[in-house]
Amino acid sequence: MSAPPKSMEKIMALCKRRGFIFQASEIYGGINGFWDYGPLGAQLKRNLRDAWWEDVVLNPLGGKPGPFGEPVRIVPVDTCIIQHPRVWEASGHVAGFNDPMVDCRESKARYRYDHVSVYVPTWAAPLIKPETVGPKLSDTDEGKPFFAFVSDTPSEAKQKKKAEKAHGELTVVALSAVPKALWPRVVGPDAEKTGSLTEPRAFNLMFKTYVGATATEDDEAYLRPETAQGMFVQFKNVLDTTRVGVPFGIAQTGKAFRNEVTPRNFTFRSREFEQMEIEFFCHPSQAAEWYAFWRDTRMAWWESLGLSRENLQLRAHDKDELAHYAKEGAGTSDIEFRFPFTDPGFGELEGIAHRSDFDLKQHQTFSKKKLEYFDPDGGELLPNGAHKGERYLPHVIEPSAGLDRGVLALLCDAFTEDPSRASPEFLKLAPRVAPIKAAVFPLVNKEGMPELAEKIYGEVCKQFAKTGFIEYDAKGTIGKRYARMDEGGCPYCFTVDGDTSKDQTVTVRNRDTAQQERIASDQVVRYLADHLR
Ligand code: GAP
Repeated sequence: MSAPPKSMEKIMALCKRRGFIFQASEIYGGINGFWDYGPLGAQLKRNLRDAWWEDVVLNPLGGKPGPFGEPVRIVPVDTCIIQHPRVWEASGHVAGFNDPMVDCRESKARYRYDHVSVYVPTWAAPLIKPETVGPKLSDTDEGKPFFAFVSDTPSEAKQKKKAEKAHGELTVVALSAVPKALWPRVVGPDAEKTGSLTEPRAFNLMFKTYVGATATEDDEAYLRPETAQGMFVQFKNVLDTTRVGVPFGIAQTGKAFRNEVTPRNFTFRSREFEQMEIEFFCHPSQAAEWYAFWRDTRMAWWESLGLSRENLQLRAHDKDELAHYAKEGAGTSDIEFRFPFTDPGFGELEGIAHRSDFDLKQHQTFSKKKLEYFDPDGGELLPNGAHKGERYLPHVIEPSAGLDRGVLALLCDAFTEDPSRASPEFLKLAPRVAPIKAAVFPLVNKEGMPELAEKIYGEVCKQFAKTGFIEYDAKGTIGKRYARMDEGGCPYCFTVDGDTSKDQTVTVRNRDTAQQERIASDQVVRYLADHLR
């Protein structure tokens, strides 16, 4: 039997209590869809971003070769949040980055059309098809109301109760499956009366702003909804100024903004968030192999950071789910994590898409600048799949990860409850990402112990302070100090006690097992070097 889902309320409370994540503008009542990171959260996020940077940019895949045996080459860029507005016309975001929305005239709430479902009587379900003529159904069921809801919100249970009273046995159908003739009988998720939902309307998710002081229509620009386009737009400059050639990747991390209609589930769906994206350019004939390679490599990376295998899954997109840029080609796969709010289902952590030459082609057309790749070395059939003298638009494999979603997955996976401990809730974060790397304590704040502990603390800081926080704490009972470190996810605590001055040993306490062992006090740095990987 699988364990019950972890409590999101408890995880959010720990995040607040220990300074991982705060509501943005909290003292003003907060602002929906925006989150700030506190001291521990900022460092955790930085550690995750640094791990990605190290494994993607500085030492790509730790030297693991690509699918054709060659080293994987990736170069970084750092492009602007605001790009020329034509970038977003070329990318398809102006025309296509829309969610159809329905408004409720009564509650004034706005819902994503594809998120709204309706309880209908089971006997009537076969009759409820978009092409059904509504009145035919009304003749047989006396025109009783249908109750709409949004999954995972309070409306789900509230509307179910009312629907059961009205209809007995229920079946759930999508609002989009309910014929328009029956909409006057639908009660919105947060409404009391029927007929309050409007027709679905498109709503663009990009945040608009103005560039310059006049703020006229001509000055309109957008905050980027993805970091990807900056990399496509600079493709030619990167090629011309570095020694990379196809196949190679461009990578960057940075903020993205989406005016999400229903931000929810803590930081999972935010309006401001950070992405870690790779655009990997390859010859079209090798795209399928690179796609499979990146899909599997990225999945293994998330596991290497401590996410449990049973909470991760790879899911290939169905044909009708593919984004506009990935309709052709090898497909798209999502790396999904079982978040407590999706349990037993999964939510997207990273998408790996074969974008074909969609973006380069679009930017070439819109900018009227040639973006083709030409291999000057010539040759018959080159190892990169191109033929002698071939000019072509490379295909792109895009592994696109959410940094904030990554942090949330790490926190949810690490959250552990053990009522027998002084810290009944604590975080089993992998040492590589843990914001506090180690803590040093004198057992009591006297008898020469603080001096010895401070010396060890200084040595540890010298070696490890650039990787995260090193804590020194001399106050309170030792049990409370351990508990505090456990909650912050600190993997190792070293304690100087009465024996230290006699036998030059300290205790090291392991967060996950709560077990202690004695090691030589001059081996603390060595111990951490071996264990903080
Ligand atoms: N360039 C492709 C792209 O942006 P996406 O699937 O829309 O693809 C990539 O986004 C990743 O960004 C997602 O897998 C997710 O981790 C993260 N992401 C997307 N929307 C988000 C949101 N509203 N809040 C937090 N993270 C988000």
